[in-house]
Amino acid sequence: MSSEKPINSTIRTAIQQGLQHISLGTLCKSIATSGLILFLFYTLLFNHPYYGQSTNQFTLFKLNWPLSPHNASASANVTTTPTSISHIVFGMVSDVNTWNYRKSYVESWWRPNVTRGYLFLDRDPTQRYHPWPSSSPPFRVNAPVKFRINHKYATQIRILRTIMETFKQGDEDVRWYVMADDDTILFVDNLVEVLAKYDHTKYFYIGMNSECVSSNVNFLFDMAFGGAGYALSYPLAEALSTKVDGCIQRYPNVYSSDFILQTCLADFGVSLTHQRGFHQIDLHGDISGLLSAHPQSPVLSLHHIDATDPIFPSMNRSASINLLMEAAKVDHSRLLQQTICYQRKSSWSFSTSWGYSTHIYENIYPRSFLQRPIETFRPWLRHFKPPFYMLNTRSLTDNPCEAPHEFFLESVERTGGDQVVTTYVRKSRRSLPPCSSSGNHSADHISKIQVFSSATTFKKAGLIECCDVEETADVKITHIKLRACMKDEIIA
Ligand SMILES: *[C@@H]1O[C@H](CO)[C@@H](O)[C@H](O)[C@H]1NC(C)=O
Ligand SMILES: *[C@@H]1O[C@H](CO)[C@@H](O)[C@H](O)[C@H]1NC(C)=O
Ligand SMILES: *[C@@H]1O[C@H](CO)[C@@H](O)[C@H](O)[C@H]1NC(C)=O
Ligand SMILES: *[C@@H]1O[C@H](CO)[C@@H](O)[C@H](O)[C@H]1NC(C)=O
Ligand SMILES: *[C@@H]1O[C@H](CO)[C@@H](O)[C@H](O)[C@H]1NC(C)=O
Repeated sequence: MSSEKPINSTIRTAIQQGLQHISLGTLCKSIATSGLILFLFYTLLFNHPYYGQSTNQFTLFKLNWPLSPHNASASANVTTTPTSISHIVFGMVSDVNTWNYRKSYVESWWRPNVTRGYLFLDRDPTQRYHPWPSSSPPFRVNAPVKFRINHKYATQIRILRTIMETFKQGDEDVRWYVMADDDTILFVDNLVEVLAKYDHTKYFYIGMNSECVSSNVNFLFDMAFGGAGYALSYPLAEALSTKVDGCIQRYPNVYSSDFILQTCLADFGVSLTHQRGFHQIDLHGDISGLLSAHPQSPVLSLHHIDATDPIFPSMNRSASINLLMEAAKVDHSRLLQQTICYQRKSSWSFSTSWGYSTHIYENIYPRSFLQRPIETFRPWLRHFKPPFYMLNTRSLTDNPCEAPHEFFLESVERTGGDQVVTTYVRKSRRSLPPCSSSGNHSADHISKIQVFSSATTFKKAGLIECCDVEETADVKITHIKLRACMKDEIIA
């Protein structure tokens, strides 16, 4: 078993860091990574989205499967009906001690009698949580393990076996199993839309790695970080359900459920399909910089809600998540999608992250600049060396031209017509002089921005929208109207 060596040494590093669960405590330690790896990664990740039904890779996976040949038409319901929310079964892992304060996160996205799935707990919760509310996913208690395990990793093994136990609930007409933690927020309508683009009758392991370079170096660039959530196609979950215990026994010293899963899947030739929109959030502090410049891809998840500041200023975590979910309910397609436009006469740039924030810059900046997140956040652990992140960022600055005026979502409303109005209010006074190089046009007096979008036409994934800035009779309020971009419209 020559392959065990590198895995073990990585694991030892992980253990030395005293971590519990990769999605709860991911590593960010000082590791310099060659630019080449990053370049290759970016080329793969951002230039070649894995959408599409190209069959070569899948055929390869099939050939490499060393176990009993699977019969996809028997296991998955191969129909031409579009994938809907009813085709997904969610498997969530929690424990009786954390459920109390994480329940509100799961309930923010869970739709009773609509979403299917189970919350797996370490022990029977009925003493403490009786009666179990219908607003929560039904619970199950993880079955005891019948073979010898390394008890240091008992929690990791329980998390991994949850895949199998979720599958064994025997739900019918399932295309995808989506696994997540109890501090993961999922955006189910976007998940449905994104998963519908993959062939659920083939083996698919779809997820995302960490924002943190060192987490990916310590574990793998090609591993789905479980807290971000990931999806397994039905035939893959079915196959795994009989093989998981074998993998656990084959790799008794591999640390973290996510790593064993990746190792197990690699053994049958299945590799990760990176999907943007799943967010592990291996970050601390204020993640508004990231959420204000989300890539043009449907947002699928947010994780580590308790590890970061509340996403809206002057709100607690659960109230923040519920406000974001209100926006998601009205228009999931635009949620956190960035739209940029300009007010030329004052040389201002407006950047809106729909349903979350709007920024005004007192200068004209091109998209390429504004789509880089401002580094408002910190990496997971403090002792590290750059490069920290898997994304290019802008530094926080006091330069009055580059520092935005920040506005955050206050309300979402459908108007009588076919429009949606999202209202964003100023976070605080900026306390900087105006940007002199662009003409000293201060935006200090603007207190509110209202963004108008269509209630009937959803945004197409991956395509940007354009907008126009309109002044109102009230100088304190500015309107932004989202619209389809004109052919070859330049945003700069
Ligand atoms: C797959 O299963 C279906 C239903 O059980 C059966 O009709 C079909 O012949 C099987 N296909 C293969 C290739 O085994
Ligand atoms: C879900 O369905 C059950 C049984 O049909 C019903 O008793 C319950 O009130 C429903 N819950 C919600 C939140 O609609
Ligand atoms: C297949 O899907 C259709 C439509 O979703 C459903 O009506 C049918 O019961 C499913 N069949 C099986 C065998 O799951
Ligand atoms: C969070 O804020 C909301 C609204 O202000 C409040 O109802 C709720 O009790 C607060 N939750 C916590 C955990 O403090
Ligand atoms: C902006 O204001 C500064 C200081 O008040 C002044 O020196 C500069 O010339 C002004 N720039 C323009 C373009 O008006």
